[in-house]
Amino acid sequence: MDTTPGAVSIEPPLAPETLAVHPWASAEGRSRAHRTLNAPLFLTTQWEGGDLPELADHFARDPDRGFYTRFGHPTVRLAEERIAALEGAADALLFSSGMGAISTSLLAVLRAGDHVVAHQAIFAQTIQFLEHLSASAGVRVDFVDAADPRQVAAAMRPDTRLLYLETPSNPAIDILDIQALAAIARAHGARVFVDTTFAGPLIQRPLSLGADLSLQSASKSLAGHADVLAGAVAGAVDLVADIRKMRVLTGPSLDPHASWLLLRGMQTLSLRVRTQSETAAAVARRLEASPAVSHVRYPFLPSHPGHEVARRQMALGGGMVSFAFAGGLEATRRFVSALRWIPLASSLGSVYTTLEVPEELDFATEEIGDRAASFALPPGLVRLSIGVESQADIERDIQRGLDAVAEGTGGAPHPPTSGA
Ligand SMILES: Cc1ncc(COP(=O)(O)O)c(C=O)c1O
Repeated sequence: MDTTPGAVSIEPPLAPETLAVHPWASAEGRSRAHRTLNAPLFLTTQWEGGDLPELADHFARDPDRGFYTRFGHPTVRLAEERIAALEGAADALLFSSGMGAISTSLLAVLRAGDHVVAHQAIFAQTIQFLEHLSASAGVRVDFVDAADPRQVAAAMRPDTRLLYLETPSNPAIDILDIQALAAIARAHGARVFVDTTFAGPLIQRPLSLGADLSLQSASKSLAGHADVLAGAVAGAVDLVADIRKMRVLTGPSLDPHASWLLLRGMQTLSLRVRTQSETAAAVARRLEASPAVSHVRYPFLPSHPGHEVARRQMALGGGMVSFAFAGGLEATRRFVSALRWIPLASSLGSVYTTLEVPEELDFATEEIGDRAASFALPPGLVRLSIGVESQADIERDIQRGLDAVAEGTGGAPHPPTSGA
């Protein structure tokens, strides 16, 4: 680097893989004072005020530096700065869960009388929260199939304030064209929120494609070890400032210890998503080759209707695959009980390979079940989240399940042991 005073630096920006590792690479450097290689963890909810003007200054201008933890916290702020750097955002905020991030952001921008257009097949509790706003807060919501941009264009109205997307979607793995849909929303003066949980910032950066806010459950791939519940949003300074104000009122601030675990988890994000994407692509191909399987969705499979869009907006295919059998839910049950070590589990995106059957969990409630029927999820759909175990072991266990379905047998009972 040219260190001549006044010289313009021609250093290239640090790559996301580097930003994900170094605590200070994206921070303002204030915590350098502590000289720790790892991010410091301050387990305190309060700070000494010094004198009255100093405390008032922290409250008014910089609560992240130490005022009261619901307003902001230095360890949480380090994690927020890292997420902003990875998302290519001016600012980012953390929450105590993905739903904390989603509900607080919606409350921050929507008013009675506003109209929202949302993709129809998004995370079940996001649907429920939008329906709650519609029943209780005078917000009107239309759910459409946003994989078809014409349906979004047709649903936009003069009072549409928000287009809410999720891509790849949970659990159907629908791929939505962020760039094309953001252009439609912008032409109508509406904001665009994108839940990017199934991809994460090393795979997909919604802001670079025209979205106003990138949201995610950081409990998944960002933290990555099934030990942290967290949510994140990233976007422009003004929008994030409005959401920060609402976070103070709704209260879902992230715990400092969870922030520290998140900072550590993010350090291996690039290693994990590469391994997961490679294995998931191989598993998706294996599923597609099985005569018992009637439906497979993986973003980078050429048979995915959104394959071309996925290749354009995602750097990797990610670790999530969904599939169904011609034999429906009965075949799914046979598949699950034949697996030797891959467990059924509610969440996703961690180092563990796990699977879930939404029909029996998220979509089992009456109101969501009816909505799920309207967007035609194949019966017995399996949502598979690929971890970082040996690819050969994962493929062998999946094949064991496929063989059991093909043979029409129950296979061996599901033992609690691991190892293939
Ligand atoms: C796509 C998506 N968005 C949001 C959430 C909610 O996140 P959390 O469980 O951290 O509240 C989830 C959780 O499964 C999810 O899959």
